[in-house]
Amino acid sequence: MNLETKYLGLKLKNPLILGASPLADKVETVQRLEEAGASAIVLRSLFEEQIQMEDQAIEHHVERHGGAFSEAASGFFPALSDFALDTGQYLEQIRKIKQKVSIPVIGSLNGVTSGGWEYHSKLIEEAGADALELNFFELPTETDESAADIEKRYIEILKHIRAMVKIPLAVKLSPFFSSIPNFVKSLKEAGADGVVLFNRLYQSDIDIESLEVRPILHLSSSSELGLRLRWLAILEPHFPGLLAVSGGVHTSSDVIKSLMAGASVIQLVSTILKHGPEQFRILEQELLDWLEKNEYESLDQLRGSMSLRTCPDPSAFGRANYMKILRGWSLSSTGSQFS
Ligand SMILES: Cc1cc2nc3c(=O)[nH]c(=O)nc-3n(C[C@H](O)[C@H](O)[C@H](O)COP(=O)(O)O)c2cc1C
Repeated sequence: MNLETKYLGLKLKNPLILGASPLADKVETVQRLEEAGASAIVLRSLFEEQIQMEDQAIEHHVERHGGAFSEAASGFFPALSDFALDTGQYLEQIRKIKQKVSIPVIGSLNGVTSGGWEYHSKLIEEAGADALELNFFELPTETDESAADIEKRYIEILKHIRAMVKIPLAVKLSPFFSSIPNFVKSLKEAGADGVVLFNRLYQSDIDIESLEVRPILHLSSSSELGLRLRWLAILEPHFPGLLAVSGGVHTSSDVIKSLMAGASVIQLVSTILKHGPEQFRILEQELLDWLEKNEYESLDQLRGSMSLRTCPDPSAFGRANYMKILRGWSLSSTGSQFS
């Protein structure tokens, strides 16, 4: 069966792509991923903070004089040398990868304020990227900026970048918006060709002895997929063809569920870090086997078949199911010792 998929206007050989990660830092790894069946790759992000530091370093030669960045010096923010690839290396990496593989290469920019860093979208386009993913990852800590202000700012950044480049743009979102459907609509109107659900938030832990806040990065598990399935199912009827899933896809069942809920493509990171590039081949083969066993004629027949448009019980994704779960919950079903 043909697994060909369209995402961001790009023709992909199947719906399985590598999500933003260090896995594309080495050209040989990207070649192995392509051989194993990855249909596109997303590079790790260039960060707004990194770009600003580089710009300032050039202007003030801070690397020689040191100490110019109090946040970096305090240890909370990375120093310039902590970033894996500087901008020059990042652009060179895109050029090198483009020479060696034929699958689409998607760059990634991660930033939240309107500023000079947005110009880097143009550099990424000129380096040969086929598309660009914008990661708006911010945790608001101030009380004065409203949700509407923040959304407006993101839309301005998107419009700014849209005006600068011709390549397709995807926006990778966090799940924390009051109205995800309304914001996705605004993103589409502002020129987004794709929306990635969702960013995965890395938690902070507190070391109670040293009184330090420590960031922790655990690889994901399939338990994180439910949040994505719900929003895919809700959004798909309004935005068919726009959605990518990122977060918690590990098995072929996860892949099938994501497609049923309405994902055009599936981004994989943790499962590839755990099992290696061959996981692409395994997931693709298992998807094909399942489609044939269940007599699907095409991927399109599967895609969105459990979204709110077609799901036999749309209330399953909404408040009704939430109430049903809470009402039906009993201690005995959890194996609890509580009596
Ligand atoms: C080591 C590592 C590095 C990552 N770097 C980035 C990044 O630079 N930009 C980004 O948007 N996401 C980044 N991510 C997040 C992944 O793209 C993805 O959204 C997340 O891991 C959830 O997908 P998964 O469940 O398949 O791992 C990174 C994830 C990991 C594990």
